[in-house]
Amino acid sequence: MFGLFGSSSGASADVDLMPWSTEYEIGIKMIDDDHRSLFETANHLNRSVKKREGHKVIEATFNMLMRYIHEHFAREEQLMLQSDFPGLEDHIRLHSIFMNAFFSTKQSYTAAPRAFDFDGFLKFLKNWLEHHVLVEDPKYVPHVQADKH
Ligand SMILES: [Fe+2]
Ligand SMILES: [Fe+2]
Repeated sequence: MFGLFGSSSGASADVDLMPWSTEYEIGIKMIDDDHRSLFETANHLNRSVKKREGHKVIEATFNMLMRYIHEHFAREEQLMLQSDFPGLEDHIRLHSIFMNAFFSTKQSYTAAPRAFDFDGFLKFLKNWLEHHVLVEDPKYVPHVQADKH
């Protein structure tokens, strides 16, 4: 847990945590743009951590990521609501479970930044976002797109 600022993880600041690729595109431009920004902000946070930037810098990026995710979820939920997507409730549940976990993780970082397990958090963030973008978000796409025609 305390090895995160050491060399044991072998992680480099030059390697992106979440490189963007077209496989993540779901075909709705507004959402793809959002997802891309989220990936970039996660990469930014990862770089700040690996470069051992100061607590204030890391916290600002952490907050920015939290705000972006929150805003993105709201946009996505609005889109699903407008098209009467039947999976809306389940999807909202996934978003809020994640948002709550993110928020309390952020609080534990603020309370004790030196003890914070960034390796574990970044791994969780990457896994959750990738799974959500590849598996959960595509579920509403046909519905939202059909509604436009
Ligand atoms: Fe989503
Ligand atoms: Fe999304």
